[in-house]
Amino acid sequence: MKRVLSGIQPSGSLTLGNYIGAIQNFVKLQHTHQCYFMVVDLHAITVPQEPKALREQTESVAALFVAAGIDPEKANVFLQSHVPAHAELGWIMTTLTHMGELERMTQFKDKSSGKESVGAGLFVYPSLMAADILLYNADLVPVGDDQKQHLELTRDLAQRFNQRFGEYFTIPEPYIPEVGARIMSLDDASNKMSKSNPNPGSYIALLDPPDVIRKKISRATTDSGREIKYDVKAKPEVSNLLSIYSQCAKLSIANIEAKYEGQGYGQFKKDLAEHVIATLEPIQQRYREIRSSGKIIDILDKGAQRASEAADETLRNVKERMGFLLRG
Ligand code: TYM
Repeated sequence: MKRVLSGIQPSGSLTLGNYIGAIQNFVKLQHTHQCYFMVVDLHAITVPQEPKALREQTESVAALFVAAGIDPEKANVFLQSHVPAHAELGWIMTTLTHMGELERMTQFKDKSSGKESVGAGLFVYPSLMAADILLYNADLVPVGDDQKQHLELTRDLAQRFNQRFGEYFTIPEPYIPEVGARIMSLDDASNKMSKSNPNPGSYIALLDPPDVIRKKISRATTDSGREIKYDVKAKPEVSNLLSIYSQCAKLSIANIEAKYEGQGYGQFKKDLAEHVIATLEPIQQRYREIRSSGKIIDILDKGAQRASEAADETLRNVKERMGFLLRG
């Protein structure tokens, strides 16, 4: 069975972008692949985190995985920090990574630009991400468009290791959806929808109540025209709303364009809000049940146990190939 790995940072409320670009594909792939889905808390601390908030967010993201439909009996749901092999292979991958490769990463450039002091962890972040993927010899990595460059580096590092130390790592393929790989911000369609945006009106959080969703969508920026047409260059805002509509209502974009032909944005936005609510309400309901049941700790424990078995074996093989003297 082919293997899948992906991760999400616990660094704020998850957004509809995370759901459409990543989580809904996690749910799909669990039926056909051996899956590892983790909350990447070690990545989250590459920018300062308040301990109490980090703890709460970590548990919340894990619960959202399950609430969104990941079955912990089918897929391994765990925390990155519960499997120490991540940090260890992360270090090894850092030593194989070139400074120039890290300097070219657009996510690093975006996150560090204008900052007075930037943590070194933010710089080596992609090497740890490569370790995450390679530890499980993942064939497929479901991610949104913004992670493509990190995936390319992972592939390069796997090839570099294989060349130097003999064929070992699987070269992973990205799994990026055609529609929804880059959901944009509601207030500015030139930025991606992001949980770290200080304006909550710019994103829909997975736990936003229905009225908040209605308000955010009704206030979403559009152009001064009235045509509902997918054209990213000429109508970026409307195109973004069409992508969201298509993913939540499970209708093709052409189908939605036809449905609203000759109508303005008002009805379109109203209906869109209802489709988003219908997508998120069952997740929110299950989320509340899981949080109050206290089951998540047990799920994460079991997930970490199974993930450790696979990860420890890889790490041992890697160290052996590299010439580390192993413990007897
Ligand atoms: P993170 O936490 O920023 O985002 C988690 C996932 O959600 C996708 N995503 C989006 N997709 C569509 N539209 C958006 N607006 C949007 N915003 C976020 C991201 O592409 C991602 O798939 N580096 C990763 C976490 C990570 C990881 C890994 C991923 C660590 N190790 C190993 C895959 C494999 C990150 O920061 O994702």
